[in-house]
Amino acid sequence: MTEQLDRPAAGPGSPTTGSAVSGCPVSGGPAPDASLPDYPFTRPSALEPCPHYAKMRAGVPVGQVRMPSGDLAHLVTTYEDVKTVLSDPRFSREATTRPGAPRLGPAPQNFRSLLNMDPPEHTRVRKLVSREFTVRRVNELRPRIQEHTDRLLDAMEEAGPPADLIPALAFPLPVTMICELLGVPFEDRDRFAGWSAAFLATAGMPAEEVLASQIALRDYLAALVAEKRKRPGTDLMSALVSIHDAGDGRLDEQELIFLGISLLVAGHETTVNQIGNSVLALLTHPEQLAAVRSDPEKIGRAGEELLRMYPPGDEALLRIAVEDVELSGVLIPAGSAVLPSLGSANRDGGQFTDADTLDVTREINPHLSFGQGAHYCIGSGLARAELQISVATLLRRFPDLRLAVPESELPRPSGRLVHGVSALPVAW
Ligand code: HEM
Repeated sequence: MTEQLDRPAAGPGSPTTGSAVSGCPVSGGPAPDASLPDYPFTRPSALEPCPHYAKMRAGVPVGQVRMPSGDLAHLVTTYEDVKTVLSDPRFSREATTRPGAPRLGPAPQNFRSLLNMDPPEHTRVRKLVSREFTVRRVNELRPRIQEHTDRLLDAMEEAGPPADLIPALAFPLPVTMICELLGVPFEDRDRFAGWSAAFLATAGMPAEEVLASQIALRDYLAALVAEKRKRPGTDLMSALVSIHDAGDGRLDEQELIFLGISLLVAGHETTVNQIGNSVLALLTHPEQLAAVRSDPEKIGRAGEELLRMYPPGDEALLRIAVEDVELSGVLIPAGSAVLPSLGSANRDGGQFTDADTLDVTREINPHLSFGQGAHYCIGSGLARAELQISVATLLRRFPDLRLAVPESELPRPSGRLVHGVSALPVAW
């Protein structure tokens, strides 16, 4: 197998362990470099984004920031510009994997995963898995999601209050679902949860550690592929192995392994955090909670609004401009890194009325939390079903659900691409 996980090169994007937490340029005082803010910005609370995004949208919608790697990027904050970056082929994901390309976090991510490809290569690989995530397929999975939710909530009820909703529901539900879908043993969850956390690290973790986790996760998937080859099941990884083994060039071994990694990492980290953030938001907005309770049929609409307001990360993945592009009057020279802020786009007053207000009855909600364009989230249907079923069932079964600690005490770790509250103690 070709080695695709390189050691980090020295230079401006060399390993960093120091700049783990940066200031919010609005509320946190001046950034260490007076001219450029450090990215990511610090949140004022577990749910609210740094007010610097709103300031940028109103004044300088495309501005340079210094990423934890030390490299610079253009942070893009308005709805229209973010959509352009995500769907215009002049912004490439593949170019981020080239040697010496600017990068966000401590280690390079130079492997051929779905998220790191551009069309037409990307289109060929995506087609192989997209049929597993159709509306019909997700509808078939709904009873299974309900079954797991009921089982997890039975255990929570039986143990009695207080309970931490993250290990009780938000973590095991999406992880169990993605494990079943892929054919990954659920018993291995602690191992791959650790590697996957390192995979998504943007700061606060040495490059060597990130790289070691990337290699461990790749080796784990390679062993799983070997196992499926010997003893195929009815799962997605077995199906992908047989596509590869047909030998018609549709999927090579590296693509197979990194497709498995993409699905495993993207398939649980994001939804875990989305469920946690969503429940916290409802418990801290009593009128909105009452509105969801009064009409459980409206959970679909409520889910979209929770995704818009509290996505499990502020930015989509880094892109590189492959030619000069102008956005909001700012020239982005070819070779520059660009960070499209989904969270900021979702709060753009030019697109959403009362953009900073949580309104679970909002009718028109074209949020960008699942991205846009070629890399639009393949698991969005599954994620929506998991979010709707888990939140609706939780609210139905626990009519007196409330936070067991003040909101200000809830931890939301930074230094990760995907994040949310890491503990959510509740009582009832
Ligand atoms: C609330 C939960 C989720 C959110 C907010 C979310 C968000 C996103 C976003 C924003 C992207 C595009 C990233 C970019 O263009 O830079 C993406 C892509 C992706 N997501 Fe999700 N996701 C979620 C759940 C899931 C689930 C459950 C799965 C797996 C089954 C999944 C699998 C993927 C994959 C494989 C891609 C890459 C698609 C491609 O490159 O063509 N996601 N997701």
